[in-house]
Amino acid sequence: MRETQPMYFDPQMQGWHIFSYGDVARVLSDHATFSSDESTFLPPEYRNATPISSSLLRMDPPRHRKLRNIVSQAFTPRMVAQMEARIQTITNGLLDQIVAKGEMDVIRDLAIPLPITVIAELMGIPAERRADFKQWSDALVSGGGETTAEAAQATMQTIRQATDSITTYFTQILEERRAQPQNDLLSALLQAEVDGERLSSEELVGFCVLLLVAGNETTTNLIGNTILCLDEHPEAMEQLRAKRELVPGALEEVLRYYSPIKLTIRGTTTETTIGEQHIAAGQVLLVWIASADRDEAEFPHADQFIIEREPNRHLGFGRGIHFCLGAPLARLEARIALNTMLDRLPGSWHVPDAPLSPIESMSVFGVKNLPL
Ligand code: HEM
Repeated sequence: MRETQPMYFDPQMQGWHIFSYGDVARVLSDHATFSSDESTFLPPEYRNATPISSSLLRMDPPRHRKLRNIVSQAFTPRMVAQMEARIQTITNGLLDQIVAKGEMDVIRDLAIPLPITVIAELMGIPAERRADFKQWSDALVSGGGETTAEAAQATMQTIRQATDSITTYFTQILEERRAQPQNDLLSALLQAEVDGERLSSEELVGFCVLLLVAGNETTTNLIGNTILCLDEHPEAMEQLRAKRELVPGALEEVLRYYSPIKLTIRGTTTETTIGEQHIAAGQVLLVWIASADRDEAEFPHADQFIIEREPNRHLGFGRGIHFCLGAPLARLEARIALNTMLDRLPGSWHVPDAPLSPIESMSVFGVKNLPL
């Protein structure tokens, strides 16, 4: 498809699929022509369905720039680097339990609890609510590609219920922090300001939900997809055991090869041309990161998993002004998770041959369970 028809108008989705690396990179880099504001790509009845709608992910400049500057003050690479020792301790605790049990499901026992515990601690919210967070964030990314109006309505209903619960939860926690600031991300967010301006209550809840959803599901899948890649490529596993300094590059290759985010979305603000295709203003674009990252024009032997690939300008974390704010945290967690597994689980790993269940989502790539 990418070679023969790099752009395709889908009558069912009423939008253009964009497949090639060059086109995807250009769309993500040109925020003036390709907007992230929901009003440019969602029909009115689907807008503002979740707090993420009022988060920076769904904003254009100048508001985006302001908001990103504010949250960047509270969510700095330094703050993330300071988490390293704590992330290692949490990972060691999870591996202790796994080793004691003598069996593991990578998703259930490591890839889900690690990022949820880390983000909960960073935000200063109780990790005991882990099961609720997981349920809410699963609900918020569910759906996409429903073929009947009833199915679409059922998905919207699930999303609305999760939204109500999560909004109530964060509104209450933020009230508590406003009254009694702590040494955590939420308190820092309440304080952060640019040009004398602070985040509105809606924006605060939007950012908290974005962190919870964007920060969990994706990191879970990066860890799970890493183990999938190594199971499918035992020679890469041998290389990593022999040379640990290859781990960071291997994780970048997982982000390219089995990208946890397959797709993002934009709307055209004006008439434009992509490749040879003329596109009107107000069109929906389904921007396929996962396809771009397998494009031979950018990546020689794109369908091969090569942990020493250089250069590797994958789009797994996006590109341009919306480039993933949590990339340093996701990389750190995945590196610690993989290194600790290599330390604590010697010998070869084997995923049983039984078929794995993929996550049912148009935008997320990962598996629900991964016994090892
Ligand atoms: C944005 C992927 C982990 C927070 C993005 C985007 C992608 C992405 C592709 C851009 C979306 C677009 O342009 O439409 C990933 C992947 C992750 C990951 C693959 C894990 C492997 C995280 C973590 C956090 C996070 C751990 C925070 C705790 C965000 C935020 C944005 C974002 C706040 C919006 C930035 C903006 O709009 O300016 N992420 N992400 N992500 N990500 Fe991540």
